[in-house]
Amino acid sequence: KIFANTLFIGKQYVSLPSCHSTNDMLMQMADEKLVFEGTVLKADAQTRGKGQRGNTWLSEPSKNLTFSILLKPKFLKPHQQFDLNRIISLGILEALQKYLPHETIEVKWPNDIYVNKQKIAGILIENTLSSQAITQSIVGIGLNVNQFDQLPDGATSVLKASGLVFEIEEILEEIIHQIEKYYLMLKSGERSIVDQSYINHLFQFQQMANYEDADGAFRGTIKGVSKDGLLLIAKSTGKECSYQFKEVTFKR
Ligand code: BTN
Repeated sequence: KIFANTLFIGKQYVSLPSCHSTNDMLMQMADEKLVFEGTVLKADAQTRGKGQRGNTWLSEPSKNLTFSILLKPKFLKPHQQFDLNRIISLGILEALQKYLPHETIEVKWPNDIYVNKQKIAGILIENTLSSQAITQSIVGIGLNVNQFDQLPDGATSVLKASGLVFEIEEILEEIIHQIEKYYLMLKSGERSIVDQSYINHLFQFQQMANYEDADGAFRGTIKGVSKDGLLLIAKSTGKECSYQFKEVTFKR
């Protein structure tokens, strides 16, 4: 398969029937210097797919998209890691808009993609940092495409949301095209467009909703996301709080 609409992402493309985790495998290939920036590794099935917070990523073999991209964003400082979360989320979101033009697609902070308030895609970014820069980033993406049954609670797929079956590599092509677009935007310094687009698509932005932090359950309103990726919530009590990933959970 040749991806014609990108400059560097997917020019080296490996598609495997199965592996433990595309993130782990791509990282190993990068360690062994077998791959260069932009390499895409996709697997029809993963036997140990990794999710956020140490979770397992489950996906019905051959039905969905599970892949990783190798990036070398040396133009980013270690404290700018969240910029990657932003551009990857936006790339997936914009690609999905093409296939689901009538659905509500949002980014749930920090980087889950939601369609009609249900999770359709997850992202696991694993960065290697030097003191000055992000030297390597393994961007892992799991997107539910043609799976219809046995989706986890609160999850959906492109098929469920649209009623249509899509070719997995066609969606992959659109996603890497959009990710490259946002990546190059960030690289050329157009950070404010990226920040603004992220906020424009943020799930529960400016809406009163239920959350939980170390102090317990509370109601609050998302006010924004800081430069370095902290979620800013104004509690109904008036107190303004900022959270790292894992310090706050969204409640129904
Ligand atoms: C999440 O928990 O939402 C993140 C899920 C990330 C899953 C993808 S699938 C391809 C890549 N390889 C992995 O082992 N995980 C990521």
